[in-house]
Amino acid sequence: MKLNAFPRKPLLFGPSPIHPLPRLTEHLGGQVEIWAKREDVNSGLAFGGNKTRKLEYLVADAIAQGCDTLVSIGGVQSNHTRQVAAAAAATGLRCRLVQESWVDWPDSAYDRVGNILLSRLLGARIELVQAEFGIGFKESWERTLADVVASGGKPYAIPAGASDHPLGGLGFVNWAMEVAEQERALGIFFDTIVVCSVTGSTQAGMIVGFGAQERRRQVLGIDASAKPAETHAQIARIARSTAERVELGRDLEDREIVLLDDYHGGTYGIPDARTLDAMKLAARMDGMITDPVYEGKSMAGLIDLVRRGGIGKGSRVLYAHLGGQPALNGYSALFR
Ligand SMILES: Cc1ncc(COP(=O)(O)O)c(C=O)c1O
Repeated sequence: MKLNAFPRKPLLFGPSPIHPLPRLTEHLGGQVEIWAKREDVNSGLAFGGNKTRKLEYLVADAIAQGCDTLVSIGGVQSNHTRQVAAAAAATGLRCRLVQESWVDWPDSAYDRVGNILLSRLLGARIELVQAEFGIGFKESWERTLADVVASGGKPYAIPAGASDHPLGGLGFVNWAMEVAEQERALGIFFDTIVVCSVTGSTQAGMIVGFGAQERRRQVLGIDASAKPAETHAQIARIARSTAERVELGRDLEDREIVLLDDYHGGTYGIPDARTLDAMKLAARMDGMITDPVYEGKSMAGLIDLVRRGGIGKGSRVLYAHLGGQPALNGYSALFR
């Protein structure tokens, strides 16, 4: 595999930490060992997260192409756009963000706190747009790209979640390599990875990275888009194009691409009772904070799979914590 052939602008502290979750493990019966790898503390750039890791490759490309403005899109409480704003600030680029009303959430400060507050603080120029949730290319984003060109700038286009982009999968190919190195140092092996998926390139990259390793393991994607058919198709497409790009040397099999659709709670961005119970359990067992949009849903999946035997006794599981806590501030009504 030729991952090292792609230029990478370092934006992380280094390898993200891996640690056990001993009280959650015990609470769920002690037969499945649960660990976490923490993208929520992977960088000093505005709280980091999974997008910061993907952006290492996209920002390197933007700089190589001589672009001066990163242009991206997300929901009002997008973690992704906040990380784009931070990456732009740290590399001296301008940033334009389209923030669409993907989530109908009634907290009165929803468009003022959390991620969007941080993006404003980071100096991004933000446009708020009325539009429904969707992971495809959006007209509002294309309009902003054209606007940058019209005003004499050179935009670098970053789609939602930095996913549907030729380099979108590389960050998490690298993550899978990092896991293998950490396993060697710790003398352990994770047979199961649990990861939240929405725009897809996080899981897609992992599938490719782990697919290049000799020892097989399962990557269980937990859908939080509530549009699992679209997300599954996007994961498959990005995984296969990334595999080709890094010269994996074999075709990915359909069974390597697993997306479970039982835990999204019915609507993107809105938690259900299981999401909230999972968030409380992770917090009260091991002090690990998750958010109601993404990680609370993958945590609900992990807990349910362990309880129901969907992850077998004797397994060692790695929960990919992808960040996202700043959005919690937009959901204060849930915890009054
Ligand atoms: C905290 C968090 N977890 C999970 C995801 C899902 O990752 P992806 O969009 O790469 O599927 C995102 C972004 O969409 C996120 O911000």
